[in-house]
Amino acid sequence: MTVPDLVRQLERENEAFWNGLPPEDRSWYQEGMTLPQLMEVHKIRCNNEIGAAEAAYFLLKTVPDQDLKTQLASQVEDEVKHFRLLAQRVKDLGGDPVDYEPTPAWLAFFGDPARLFNYDPLEVAAGFQLTAEGLSNARHVSEAVSFAGVLGDGETERIYREVIRPDELTHVQFGRLVILRLATTPERLQTARDACAKARDYMVRVVKEFRQRVYP
Ligand SMILES: [Fe+2]
Ligand SMILES: [Fe+2]
Repeated sequence: MTVPDLVRQLERENEAFWNGLPPEDRSWYQEGMTLPQLMEVHKIRCNNEIGAAEAAYFLLKTVPDQDLKTQLASQVEDEVKHFRLLAQRVKDLGGDPVDYEPTPAWLAFFGDPARLFNYDPLEVAAGFQLTAEGLSNARHVSEAVSFAGVLGDGETERIYREVIRPDELTHVQFGRLVILRLATTPERLQTARDACAKARDYMVRVVKEFRQRVYP
């Protein structure tokens, strides 16, 4: 099996895991949620964007190729743009985007992704880019569009649909490119696979901790 085939296999494993989870283990959103609860989701998700910027910045500093560095630099810019757009949305709805108490799993995953993934660019690319960004793209963005739309928050729905979703597709692609560049042995591919599993575990923990607080 070629390395690109193996990367696709990792993505299929991520998808299969996610599809097997009940909504309460994977979704920021809940049927019947209120507008204040939706604002709590906007808050955590705009803070998640800073974590994504940290992960991309770490990769930018550590990958060997100039072309990858320029792509990752554009991702850092995108994530900051996402933060600003969502933070403004929280303010427009009457909230404070930085009035957010991080939970333990959130701090480990979004607070310092390079540390969680052992300062290894391959692990960060597999765990954060391929897994977190990939699943976010497949699930969370679609849910953001539908739940914000239902609650009449059309501007947030537009931000996710027109800006965040197209950007996130490119970020997942950057993750694939880093893995293809760095997973050069069977052992390193296994390292990438283990990082995907670790990311999935943390994503579930982060969502569960969030939901316990917002949907008691
Ligand atoms: Fe983002
Ligand atoms: Fe991203």
